[in-house]
Amino acid sequence: MPIAPPPQRNWWDLPIGIHEKVWLSLVVLVGLSLFIMMPVWHVVGRQNSPTTTYRVSPDSYYEKVNAWTQTAARVEGGIKPPGRDVYLAALRFAWVPNSIVLEASVPYRIHLSSKDVNHGFSIHRDGEPAQKANFQVVPGYEYVLPMEFDDPGVYYIVCQEYCGIGHQAMLGKIVVEGATR
Ligand code: CUA
Repeated sequence: MPIAPPPQRNWWDLPIGIHEKVWLSLVVLVGLSLFIMMPVWHVVGRQNSPTTTYRVSPDSYYEKVNAWTQTAARVEGGIKPPGRDVYLAALRFAWVPNSIVLEASVPYRIHLSSKDVNHGFSIHRDGEPAQKANFQVVPGYEYVLPMEFDDPGVYYIVCQEYCGIGHQAMLGKIVVEGATR
């Protein structure tokens, strides 16, 4: 028998073995390095969470999106922003506006908020399984995401927070025009 039962041996009184010490130290080191990477990656990483966030009322944000949509051009494929700011609202169960046309290699500021419940903003390029971005869309907050598309193509905005019975149908589109860099 590899381990003697407690009545014959009190394992708590025995010192920790050298192998156990090595493994425990490794675990602590890995944990510490992952912890340190959080602030470090915030400075050196290229895909950070937004640092610009405003408190907004869900209704006033939605009005802002609609007013902005009026100023934007309607082209084939969707709404083309007049400047570099793009206003997007999440609501059950759609993205407003539903389809946006952007230029490749142009830095945009994507403003995001929700009209009702918590949604998730993720971007998937057509035909690619991996998602390009993933952010929370919490009502009451306006997030400003600096975003630039290197490659033209069709990208889908997929809600990745369960928001109700129509969650799986909550799909938007970004059409990126221009030449590959
Ligand atoms: Cu919106 Cu799920």
